[in-house]
Amino acid sequence: MAKIVFEEVTKTFPTKDRKNRRNKEEFTALDGIDLEIGAGEFVVVVGPSGCGKSTLLDLLGGLTRPTSGRILLDGKPITGPGLDRGIVFQQYALLPWRTALGNVEFGLEATGVPRRERKDRAREFLDLVGLTGFEDRHPHELSGGMRQRVAIARSLAYDPDVLLMDEPFAALDAQTRESLQDELRRIWQRTGKTVVFITHGIEEAVYLGQKVAVMTSRPGRVKEIVPVSFGARGAGLQGEDLRSSPEFARYRHEIWTLLHGEVARAQQLEKEEATV
Ligand SMILES: Nc1ncnc2c1ncn2[C@@H]1O[C@H](COP(=O)(O)OP(=O)(O)O)[C@@H](O)[C@H]1O
Ligand SMILES: [Mg+2]
Repeated sequence: MAKIVFEEVTKTFPTKDRKNRRNKEEFTALDGIDLEIGAGEFVVVVGPSGCGKSTLLDLLGGLTRPTSGRILLDGKPITGPGLDRGIVFQQYALLPWRTALGNVEFGLEATGVPRRERKDRAREFLDLVGLTGFEDRHPHELSGGMRQRVAIARSLAYDPDVLLMDEPFAALDAQTRESLQDELRRIWQRTGKTVVFITHGIEEAVYLGQKVAVMTSRPGRVKEIVPVSFGARGAGLQGEDLRSSPEFARYRHEIWTLLHGEVARAQQLEKEEATV
């Protein structure tokens, strides 16, 4: 059975007129999304800005509800947020007054893990993301990449089946982003979690995904799903070596071609709206 199923999922938002009154017209952010994600799969969703990627992830997180259609998790409709799903956003949603360890522990408080065990578990997950020795630092004493590592450790610590990530590395410099991509893949392989990863970066999508779902510009639909697999990865190729391989270039071009028309269409829509 699929871990996650989107069935004809549509999401509309009310619109307001110039006087801030609610319009009759609705704005369609997602239009008939059908998508199946298997347990343990790493799926990347890529699409132009404004196509509904965050809306899709918020629906999975149970932060909003579909206007029509259903989203099933383990065969049951999602009715709200839950500890079976961990979410990592683009901006580090860390508590500034807590240390790295305290932030990871925070995720465990809701699950009723006893205090002493919380500390051990938090240390273990900080270690997993390479932050041993930084347990007692506060967020302002950590680099952007380290903060995002803390956010990942926090969402992993309570052991959700599903990891939802909304452009988690977008605000980081290229080198930090690439090392976190490798770390995330390692963690995914080690833990076997189902990962849904949102990005607007083609390279990131190709590097991370087992499947890349390419979305249309709004209203967002799934245009195509591209399965990605590198023979070279089996031989231990990663990082720059993998990125500069001919296989990688082929996938990048395939996804670029799918996206290209959509980005142009999104820009055209924006222009039209600006002149109305
Ligand atoms: N709460 C909301 N109310 C009204 N419109 C929204 C709301 N959330 C998102 N939108 C609109 O839906 C579209 C898709 O947004 P979003 O999912 O954030 O796109 P993406 O993450 O792909 O950039 C955008 O045009 C955005 O303005
Ligand atoms: Mg977004």
